[in-house]
Amino acid sequence: MSSSILRSIARQSRSSALARSARFASTAAKQQTLKERLAELIPAEIENVKAVRAEHGKKSFGPVLVDQLYGGMRGLPALIWDGSVLDPDEGIRFRGKTIPEIQDLLPKAPGGSEPLPEGLFWLLVTGEVPTQAQVEALSKDWAARAAIPEFVEELLDRCPPTLHPMSQFSLAVTALNHDSTFAKAYQQGVSKKEYWGPAFEDCMDLIAKLPNIAGRIYRNVYGQGKVPAIDPTKDYSWNMANLLGFAEKNDFVELLRLYITIHSDHEGGNVSAHAGKLVGSALSDPFLAFAASLNGLAGPLHGLANQEVLLWLRKMQSKIGENATDEAVKEYVWSTLKNGQVVPGYGHAVLRKTDPRYSAQREFALKHLPNDPLFKLVAQVFNIVPGILLEAGKAKNPWPNVDAHSGVLLTHYGLDQMNFYTVLFGVSRAFGVAAQLIWDRALGAPLERPKSYSTDAIKKIFAGKN
Ligand SMILES: CC(C)(COP(=O)(O)OP(=O)(O)OC[C@H]1O[C@@H](n2cnc3c(N)ncnc32)[C@H](O)[C@@H]1OP(=O)(O)O)[C@@H](O)C(=O)NCCC(=O)NCCS
Repeated sequence: MSSSILRSIARQSRSSALARSARFASTAAKQQTLKERLAELIPAEIENVKAVRAEHGKKSFGPVLVDQLYGGMRGLPALIWDGSVLDPDEGIRFRGKTIPEIQDLLPKAPGGSEPLPEGLFWLLVTGEVPTQAQVEALSKDWAARAAIPEFVEELLDRCPPTLHPMSQFSLAVTALNHDSTFAKAYQQGVSKKEYWGPAFEDCMDLIAKLPNIAGRIYRNVYGQGKVPAIDPTKDYSWNMANLLGFAEKNDFVELLRLYITIHSDHEGGNVSAHAGKLVGSALSDPFLAFAASLNGLAGPLHGLANQEVLLWLRKMQSKIGENATDEAVKEYVWSTLKNGQVVPGYGHAVLRKTDPRYSAQREFALKHLPNDPLFKLVAQVFNIVPGILLEAGKAKNPWPNVDAHSGVLLTHYGLDQMNFYTVLFGVSRAFGVAAQLIWDRALGAPLERPKSYSTDAIKKIFAGKN
């Protein structure tokens, strides 16, 4: 399928998302809980999907190339997810809204200027911009659900500090399945039509409990003392910052609000989003499904890249010194490529321009830390790497992605334990995966089961054909 057709489909789905969000917005003023609002929206969406399938279900969506079977299914239209759509040139839109738009539209904390991730979750789930009161109610709800079982605390306390924080994170999230409402309801024979309710409860519990898990991992691994209690009068990001020991730094709390919001979701096909959806399609509960997402996010070509970027920058500094010349940086970038390694933080499977999540973090840096030496190095690298990747001629996208910037911001405020960075990415990614799992169960998404072929079969299918 040509990229222009794909772009026109992206535009259409954007405008239908906008139309739907406008329709939803008209009833948003009633101050319902998220679950009440969702219960109202589900029947209409079921009808919407039925109508689309009745009208278009038997139409071809374009050819599948053999190259796509071998090539990691790049660009293969294969999934449905309304929460966010990724345009190769313009980047991510959440329910039709760009990052600057959500920064403008979503409720903020008192005195803050970054969006609250609570609002982004409401938007992802309903397509509506929530009121301040709805967002505050969500903060309180999550604070009330935040405690983790004692055995999960013990499990984390027994992990050796040498076990990667992402492995600990995945272990703890898997263990939360012990108290899954969905798994229990399934055992008790809940009707398929009712799946979304217990899935919703698990997803809310999942998001709510992640700060206590992440905070405990951080404090255990880096010897930062006991985990403080959740403050039910504060928002999710403040509590996350407090569990890490950074709540007194207001700019860090603001950074976390932005960070969680922009890392939440990136269409349905990326490894973490798709892994969660795939495992959820087996009716594994949301804890098991999200643990699969985390295991994918832990890979260096996906979420771990934010750790890799910082390691790479630090290695470069130790080799060529601080305040190095452009020539020295260029030489270092070339040596990375010549050693058969990727330049972390650059390139993307879908994007073909600078990632707007990179740009949002750059704006934050320009506002809050314009003179930070590492930020200056990131800016210098930004001026150099794309030209080199273009000259090297392999990468389809020479521009920076989200991971090129996040570590520098976290380091600036003192969170310099690089191998913890992907855990924060994981906390954020739960928002998108959870929203998707709720809708998959609401719409009765079936077990995923694509067809695989052998190379021999491919040869036979095309034998004698040009
Ligand atoms: C993100 C990424 C995995 C996308 O992979 P992809 O869709 O296969 O990308 P492309 O189609 O552009 O890859 C074509 C070639 O360019 C190379 N390439 C892509 N990005 C590159 C980079 N940043 N540095 C060096 N080489 C790169 C690929 O490794 C591939 O090489 P190969 O043909 O020898 O296998 C890839 O760009 C990458 O490895 N980036 C660095 C890691 C990173 O930042 N990940 C976070 C993504 S949000």
